[in-house]
Amino acid sequence: MSYQVIARKYRPAKFCDITAQEHVTRTIQNSLRMGRVGHGYIFSGSRGVGKTTAARIFAKALNCQKLMDDPEYLQQVTEPCGECESCRDFESGTSLNISEFDAASNNSVDDIRALRENVRYGPQKGKYRVYIIDEVHMLSIAAFNAFLKTLEEPPPHAIFIFATTELHKIPATISSRCQRFNFKRIPLEDIQNQLQSICDAEHITVEGDALQLIGRKAQGSMRDAQSILDQVIAFSAENDHDGAISYQGVADLLNYIDDDTMFDVTDAVMDGNPSKMLDVAQFVIRNGYDEQDFLEKLVEHLRNFLVVQNLSSTRLVERPDAVRERYQRDAGNFSPFAVMQMVDFILQTQKELKFQFEYQFRFELALLKLIDIVQSVPVVTDAPLAQKKKYLNSL
Ligand SMILES: Nc1ncnc2c1ncn2[C@@H]1O[C@H](COP(=O)(O)OP(=O)(O)O)[C@@H](O)[C@H]1O
Ligand SMILES: [Mg+2]
Ligand SMILES: [Zn+2]
Repeated sequence: MSYQVIARKYRPAKFCDITAQEHVTRTIQNSLRMGRVGHGYIFSGSRGVGKTTAARIFAKALNCQKLMDDPEYLQQVTEPCGECESCRDFESGTSLNISEFDAASNNSVDDIRALRENVRYGPQKGKYRVYIIDEVHMLSIAAFNAFLKTLEEPPPHAIFIFATTELHKIPATISSRCQRFNFKRIPLEDIQNQLQSICDAEHITVEGDALQLIGRKAQGSMRDAQSILDQVIAFSAENDHDGAISYQGVADLLNYIDDDTMFDVTDAVMDGNPSKMLDVAQFVIRNGYDEQDFLEKLVEHLRNFLVVQNLSSTRLVERPDAVRERYQRDAGNFSPFAVMQMVDFILQTQKELKFQFEYQFRFELALLKLIDIVQSVPVVTDAPLAQKKKYLNSL
């Protein structure tokens, strides 16, 4: 038996199986019920949140014979039936009424011309031909322009669904002619539940918060979560008893970020060593660790410095003894003022990152900046009282 990866095996076949995107699926289902289907759609959102999946289900529903023939079913269920000939063709990947086009690799004007040529022909069976154009932001301006005419006067049978992770790169001339749907990152809890039901279906036992760790790492992408789960299952099969998934197993596999990495940051600052700092940033990015979480942990790490500096004791530092000793030892390397400057800067960066697209790049810069901040603090200065109070109040 050939092995099928989880992301494909558990790809939703109906609108109701798509998690956390009800604002999209409900609107599409309403338009099907009302018979008001547009010709152009933009599905935007980060990777692995259900854009392609929703587009395929939409296409399947548009051609479902049962939905066309049975008004009651259309009104009450509004899902592709999965049983008629057309639905079966869609599910086996043999339907001629859906074309998927990857704009990342076919982005020239000639490619678009070929597509336009294709669009002229109507469906052989069924009602609509649906063109899913993935990564549409990769099209050149000339290619977009070549497309515009088709989008202005589409043949009645043609429906275009443009999927993109970068909505802002799509020219207004295109996006203003489409209905836009923004897919959300999937909340951690929904990812966890989905992984749990997959594990149940696969008869795999999971321990404690192991799935939460996977969900956190996936950062809102269901596909990523499912790929990590594949990996974890393979890993657990050889390491743990009965193939059960353990918290520790997942933490090991995912390189869960620990205190050492936090000390790497403060070491890099202390040594004024940008290359070491970039290594840390790369480590975080490569492991898919959430940058906001990392900065959160970094603030906590610096808070531990301040505690030790102000109390001259580690009793309020909740860490194993060896780590407390390290705080005790390293706390003398910075003035409290320098530590507070770093904290202020990180808190500011956290706010800014929420509104940024170029997350990783900004994150790297922010870490590098920490070195500058500390180096520009006069060595002899101790923390002015007001600053100290401000920080302690913000805790
Ligand atoms: N909202 C979701 N609900 C359930 N599964 C999802 C969802 N989003 C993604 N998946 C899973 O991830 C896989 C990839 O999703 P896909 O729709 O191709 O993502 P996108 O096109 O947004 O990158 C699907 O096969 C499915 O298993
Ligand atoms: Mg996709
Ligand atoms: Zn059907």
